[in-house]
Amino acid sequence: MTDKLEKIVSLCKRRGFIFPGSEIYGGFSGFYDFGPLGAELKFNIKQEWWKEVVQKRDDVVGINAAIIMNPKVWEASGHLGAGFSDMLIECPKCHKRFKGDDAENECPECGTNISGLKPRPFNIMFRTFVGPVEDTASVAYLRGETAAGIFVNFKNVVDTTRISVPFGIAQIGKAFRNEINPKDYIFRTREFEQMEMEYFVKPGDDDGAFKNWVAERVKWYERLGLSNIREKKQPKKELAHYSKATTDIEYEFPFGWQEIEGIANRTDFDLRVHSEHSGEDLSYTDKDTGEKYLPYVIEPSAGVDRIALAFLCDAYTEDGNRTILRLHPKLVPYKAAVFPLVANKPELVAKAREVYSNLKSQISNLGSIAWDDRGNIGKRYYSQDEIGTPYCITIDYQTLEDDTVTIRDRDTTKQERVKIEELSRTVCAKL
Ligand code: GAP
Repeated sequence: MTDKLEKIVSLCKRRGFIFPGSEIYGGFSGFYDFGPLGAELKFNIKQEWWKEVVQKRDDVVGINAAIIMNPKVWEASGHLGAGFSDMLIECPKCHKRFKGDDAENECPECGTNISGLKPRPFNIMFRTFVGPVEDTASVAYLRGETAAGIFVNFKNVVDTTRISVPFGIAQIGKAFRNEINPKDYIFRTREFEQMEMEYFVKPGDDDGAFKNWVAERVKWYERLGLSNIREKKQPKKELAHYSKATTDIEYEFPFGWQEIEGIANRTDFDLRVHSEHSGEDLSYTDKDTGEKYLPYVIEPSAGVDRIALAFLCDAYTEDGNRTILRLHPKLVPYKAAVFPLVANKPELVAKAREVYSNLKSQISNLGSIAWDDRGNIGKRYYSQDEIGTPYCITIDYQTLEDDTVTIRDRDTTKQERVKIEELSRTVCAKL
């Protein structure tokens, strides 16, 4: 692990962003838990995405589909086949599976001679059983992507809303992949969240829509302050079988340039295979012209956890003995923190409590506010810098005389004095 990533992992553990999954039982490879601050960060990322991709637009609606679906969905989509697999060698004796090539002679687990064994595809869908009997008839899968829930509800959405092509259906939710090699902290895990949108267009309009969505998605990251991103067009020979074009948005992590989101032109592949397998006609009839066709689909598909890691890496800054998370104010776990200058003066604490609860209720629509009365004021500033809190509000002796407080800025460390009655307006304006 790189030095920078190690520091981020340590900060995230120490301050309650991210914990190893099931830690008291020794952890569980490929699974992580998000603590109080990590939960806020992820919530804010999802909210910014939902606002931008769904709520601000007239042509996109959201859904929330079941994680476990009829297994026929995954047969149709191809997720049970070789396309959704890792290439692995399986030891014939201990059955341990690992990534490998012909150059390896011995099983790294038990030493059995494996020279000459060719890697085979192993499917990465998580299997489970539905109902009381664990036989093949009851096998089901945890979804490997959220997109499938959108395709199987295409007709439901068309029939129950006033939306017409071109339009999108969006979904945020958990996805599961039995990754053989989970790695790079929360970059590749076995349980993660996706934010996906399927934008249905008339065939022929797909190239333009594809270009628009790549541009829209890049703008979203830039508006939230993410630097070090680039677009990477996938070469034709690397495209998934369903894709006519794919552009990845990559971020330069401490471990190199990696995909955080993929935008794909999936053609009519999904609606076609689900029509064929389900027997349900998923073609679309134009309400004005009566023309009937299978729409093409443009899919921006992003991982919340990966994006959270990208924002954390990008925001992490050391300035002398200060560690600062320069997260965008829209993403920070706490929008502001309120302190009494000292914790042992009851009048100061009472006044600070009053300011805190008023501010909390006045700006609750913007996010959470922190209270801190531990240690000295300098330590509290440093402690808030480290978790990205953009503004610290201190109630001091002057407050008791003239009803003013100081606001300290995370990035400049400059302080200004404002009247309490102006406080929420000032903080809102800054945010
Ligand atoms: N529906 C298309 C689809 O799922 P994908 O490239 O396999 O495409 C899309 O995944 C996004 O989901 C990726 O760009 C990444 O952000 C996230 N993702 C995929 N696998 C992941 C994993 N094992 N751990 C964390 N995030 C993952």
